Amino acid sequence: MNCPFSGSASTLAMYGRTAQLAVKRLDYMQEARKSGALVPMKLGTKDAYLVNDPGLIRQILVTDADKFVKGTIILRTRPYVGDGIISSEGEKHKRNRRLMQPMFNRLSVERYIPKFVEAVAEITSGWSDGATIEADKELTRLATHSLTKAMFSDPGGARELAVVTEEVIDRFIAGIGVRIFLPDLITRLPTPGNKKFEEGRRALRDETWSLIQRRRESGGYYDDIISTMLRDQHPDGTSMTDDEIVDEVVTLMLAGVETVSSVVTAAFSEIDRNPDMAERLHQEVDAVLNGAPVTAENIDDLPFLAAFVTEILRVYAPTWILMRNAVEPVDLGETRINPGNEIIFSPTAVHRDPAFYPDPIRINPDRWLPGEVVQPRDGTWAPFGQGKRKCIGDTFAWYESRVWIASIASRWTLHSTGKPMEMSAAGTYRATKASMITKKRSKARKGKSSPQH
Ligand code: HEM
Repeated sequence: MNCPFSGSASTLAMYGRTAQLAVKRLDYMQEARKSGALVPMKLGTKDAYLVNDPGLIRQILVTDADKFVKGTIILRTRPYVGDGIISSEGEKHKRNRRLMQPMFNRLSVERYIPKFVEAVAEITSGWSDGATIEADKELTRLATHSLTKAMFSDPGGARELAVVTEEVIDRFIAGIGVRIFLPDLITRLPTPGNKKFEEGRRALRDETWSLIQRRRESGGYYDDIISTMLRDQHPDGTSMTDDEIVDEVVTLMLAGVETVSSVVTAAFSEIDRNPDMAERLHQEVDAVLNGAPVTAENIDDLPFLAAFVTEILRVYAPTWILMRNAVEPVDLGETRINPGNEIIFSPTAVHRDPAFYPDPIRINPDRWLPGEVVQPRDGTWAPFGQGKRKCIGDTFAWYESRVWIASIASRWTLHSTGKPMEMSAAGTYRATKASMITKKRSKARKGKSSPQH
């Protein structure tokens, strides 16, 4: 079977075309589901398998996880991102993941809620009634502010990193998305695009490095991700080195900005397209928040919002392609996978399979509300992956996206300018060119909605 990203020549040709064509990659993944649970293919010269069955995907990610390492896509990000937990393997991955995990558990993330609220206030303070914004870009700025505040909470630190990150993040993430699929030679040519990408990459690392040095010199402790990385020790009493911390910060930026901003961009586009959903959302946030900020105490009183975000994560899961590489022989059903074989699978395509979700592309939060629809089979909803390499930021993203949507929806509605948002599948499946008109809501009243649709 020919795969649209097999072989560097075809990949290059693929990239030369439009973003519209890029979306075909997800179409391909969805279409290929009809070819069976496991589809053999070639990836360049390597034997590869497209795995469509959620049970086999679970075997790869959970039961037999030790027989696989990350696949080509993630390994190709290493020269640009470093060796953070998204690409490291074995003992290094285990040690750093264990050290970082507590900063991403529920209790820690609840402490970041005021920072998410503050970031929304900063970004929306630049909006005015009736203005046109590029929603995808604004939400990427919001993601940058939220994450830098959670990482560096000392006065000035988050702001400085946010300024640098805002300038380079789009170019950096998009550049990596392109470089994953391009032949190495092309990425090393001294073209203006390559030079700009390299400048952005350096700026992000340099700024992070100097903030870490400043934090070390000040000796101050803050309740944030950086202080924990600097302070906490591995079981053998050693700590992460500054180089490792820079790698981890850049990794978090790569993994935690575009993913959330894209999901929330899609959410606002769907809210605009579905007035009944907008009404339910507004009614809920007005009744619960009554104009007050989202807090750890009230966030779980928003069940419609939770169901809506779950559904958006299903249809718009950014991780349209994930990969693994076998390091030991493994039997997947009847098929023997040999060391070196590549495994490809798509959570987004699984989520869009009508066998698991009738009318799969339709956003229907009621699928998730208690008593309405039977919960899906294991592994059919896995936007954050599964097993030991599951997203470390899943709880972070889950809270962050709900805080943003509730905070924005209680004060603003966003409306399409008429040009449809585009979806592109490069490093992630993401919303682009989402021009939207901002409208201030009239004062929300407790228990009564004031929808603007
Ligand atoms: C809606 C938002 C997000 C989605 C859908 C998402 C999805 C994923 C998925 C599917 C993986 C596993 C990849 C694999 O198995 O190959 C992953 C890994 C990871 N994610 Fe996320 N992610 C999101 C947000 C975040 C955020 C906010 C952060 C950090 C603040 C983050 C940090 C990471 C890291 C560091 C890893 C690597 C974990 C490891 O290998 O141990 N992600 N993400």
